[in-house]
Amino acid sequence: MYNYGMHLTLHQLKVFESVARLLSYTRAAEELFLSQPAVSMQIKQLEDNIGLPLFDRLGKKIYLTEAGREMFRYSRTIAQQLSEAETVIEELKGIKRGKLVISVASTANYFSTRLLAIFNKRIEGVTVSLDVTNRENLLHQLTSNDTDLVIMGRPPEGLDLEAEPFMDNPLVVIAAPGHPFAKRKRIPLTDLQDETFVVRETGSGTRMASERFFNEKGINLNTGMVMTSNEAIQQAVQAGLGLGIVSLHTLDLELKTNSLVVLDVESFPIMRQWYIVHRKGKRLSPVAQAFKTFILKEAASLWQMPGMK
Ligand code: PGA
Repeated sequence: MYNYGMHLTLHQLKVFESVARLLSYTRAAEELFLSQPAVSMQIKQLEDNIGLPLFDRLGKKIYLTEAGREMFRYSRTIAQQLSEAETVIEELKGIKRGKLVISVASTANYFSTRLLAIFNKRIEGVTVSLDVTNRENLLHQLTSNDTDLVIMGRPPEGLDLEAEPFMDNPLVVIAAPGHPFAKRKRIPLTDLQDETFVVRETGSGTRMASERFFNEKGINLNTGMVMTSNEAIQQAVQAGLGLGIVSLHTLDLELKTNSLVVLDVESFPIMRQWYIVHRKGKRLSPVAQAFKTFILKEAASLWQMPGMK
């Protein structure tokens, strides 16, 4: 069972941080607009919760004990993070209305929609226009300035774009559970040459990355069918039409219900990254700026949370 450990409160931590920084109960009490006995009581409760003294008293002076020094280090980080969270929330609250025009790669749609839902709950009154398309179309939209922000794989150099990575995007080989490779370990890449693959359309980032990967390794892939969506590939693979290469982000239910398996292939996954992209120098609206900040700071950790996938 999970042990919830120390039952300390944020208020106690705040009081402790102040006393530890100023090394004075009196000055901490002034800073926090509390009485001195109130400060002493918070520290006493914190020490009881922790089970170790945090301060040594020598005459009129107080010093941090070893436990006190450790707590001080953590409480400062916590205080900083809290104030950062406050700033972000304040910024978000400031954006009362606005329109967010965003385009995402088909593969990124799996997490983008859920992240947009969270963002939208935080800032009410924002209208979102979301376009889901492949990499090539996204690059066109960026060049013609048709969109505020784009979520895609790493864009090419030389297009005058500002692109920041925010989350890993592992590409994996999938098969039907009954496939002879399903139970094999460390399948050599060369064994894939005899298989048929169901692949994404030209213009897809997933396709581009897998082609580059196999070219570099000198492996020729047999392309059986081309499909314009990850779902179509998954269904074709389930139906036994071949193997597929998709982002791990597109699989969840399929793995839980065992309708597809991820093969253990040498050198896999192909590790890509997701980027949030806009034209260089583009003046982002407050809502677009807030969305960009939200993605950069929170997308990766939110996506790891249970229930998100
Ligand atoms: P896509 O994904 O395959 O849906 O175009 C974008 C990318 O991986 O860059």
